[in-house]
Amino acid sequence: MSNKIFVDACLGKETPYTPVWMMRQAGRYLPEYMAVRAEAGNFLNLCHDPEKAAEVTLQPLDIVGVDAAILFSDILVIPDEMGMDLEFIKGFGPKFNDPLQSQEDLDRLIGGSEAASKLTYVYETIELLREQLDARGDNKALIGFTGAPWTLATYMIEGQGTKTYNICKKMMYSNPKLLHNILAKVTEVIKLYMEKQIESGIDVVQIFDSWAAAIEPSKYDEFSWKYMVEIADYLKSKYPDTPIIMFPKGIPSFLDEVYGNFDVFGVDWSTPMADAKEKLGDKYVLQGNMEPCRLYSQEATKECVESLAETMKDGRHIFNLGHGILPDVPVENAKYFVKLCQEASKRK
Ligand code: CP3
Repeated sequence: MSNKIFVDACLGKETPYTPVWMMRQAGRYLPEYMAVRAEAGNFLNLCHDPEKAAEVTLQPLDIVGVDAAILFSDILVIPDEMGMDLEFIKGFGPKFNDPLQSQEDLDRLIGGSEAASKLTYVYETIELLREQLDARGDNKALIGFTGAPWTLATYMIEGQGTKTYNICKKMMYSNPKLLHNILAKVTEVIKLYMEKQIESGIDVVQIFDSWAAAIEPSKYDEFSWKYMVEIADYLKSKYPDTPIIMFPKGIPSFLDEVYGNFDVFGVDWSTPMADAKEKLGDKYVLQGNMEPCRLYSQEATKECVESLAETMKDGRHIFNLGHGILPDVPVENAKYFVKLCQEASKRK
C-alpha cells in the first residue's frame, strides 16, 4: 500500500491537496543542475553516472518543492543502446550520425532483452534513488519514463530533431511496413526497459509522445497510440498497481478516441483542461496543463493555476505544465507555481 500522495492521486484516490511536478524539472534553469553537469563534463556523461544522475533527480524536490521526482535520463538512451551512437551537440541538440533508412539498417540494431540489459546505468540510478527517497521518509514518488515508439522513431529516422518530419513521413506513406517494423522493434525494447525500471524501484511510469502532433489525426492510432497502449497493457499485466501516465503532446482532436489500460492522461497546453475533463475525466486522472511560458510571469501563473484549480476542484487531477519548463525561467517563479498549486487545491 502506498502512502505517497502522488501515487494515490494517479490512482484517482482522494488526497489532502493536488500534487504537482513539472516536466523537465531537473534541468538548466537550476544553477545547482548546471554545477553537477559541469562536474560530469557533459549531459550524456551525467546520464551515465548514477550518483550524479540521482543527485540532479532530487534537486527539484528540495529546491522547488515538487511532489514527485522524475528519473534523470533521456528518452534517447534507448536508440543509443540499440547501437545508434547518440551525440548531444552544444547549441544543436541530439544527433545520430547513421539514421535508419532501410530494413538492413534496422536489422543491424540490437533489440529485445539484449538492448534493455545494456541500460544498467539507468537501473543503478533508480536503485540509488529508491534508497535515498526511502531514507528521506517524505513519501515523495519517483517517476520513471520512456519516449513513445513514434517519438523515438522520429529521431532514429531523421537523425536529429526536425520541424517538418519529412523523412519519417515519407516512410509513413511510401514504406509503412518499414516504419511499423521500426516501431515494433523499439516497442519490444521499451516493454522490457520499463519492466526493469519498475523492478529497480520507480513508483509511476510516464510515456512521452512529444511529437504526437506531427501525425495526422486519422493515422495517429496506427503509428503511435496503439504501440503506447501495447506497452501499457504489457506493464499492467505484470504490475497492475504501478500507475501509467500517457502524454501525447498536441492532439486535441484525438480526445474522443482515447482508449487503453492506463491511469493518467497528460494534457498538453494546447488542449483546454475543461474539454479534456468533459471527454476523459471520468475515465482517467488528468495531468497538466499550464502553458510553460506563463512561468515567466507570476501574475500569468496565478491566473492559470486558479483557473485550473477551479476546473478541477472535484479532484482526479495532477498539476503540471503542458510541456517542459524552459532553461531561462526564474527559479523563484517555478517555486511560486508549485506552492500556489499545493495551496489552491488544499482540501479541508
Ligand atoms: O527533469 C526531467 O524531466 C527528467 C529528465 C528528462 C530529460 N529529457 C533531460 C534532458 C526527460 C524526461 C527528458 C525527455 C526528453 N528528451 C524528451 C521528451 C520530453 C519533452 O520535453 O518533450 C525529448 C523529446 C528528449 C530529447 C532531447 N533531450 C532533446 C530534444 C534535447 C535537446 C534539447 C534541449 O532541451 O536542450 C535533450 C537534452 C536534455 N534532456 C536536456 C535535459 C536536462 C538538456 C541537456 C543539457 O543539460 O544541456
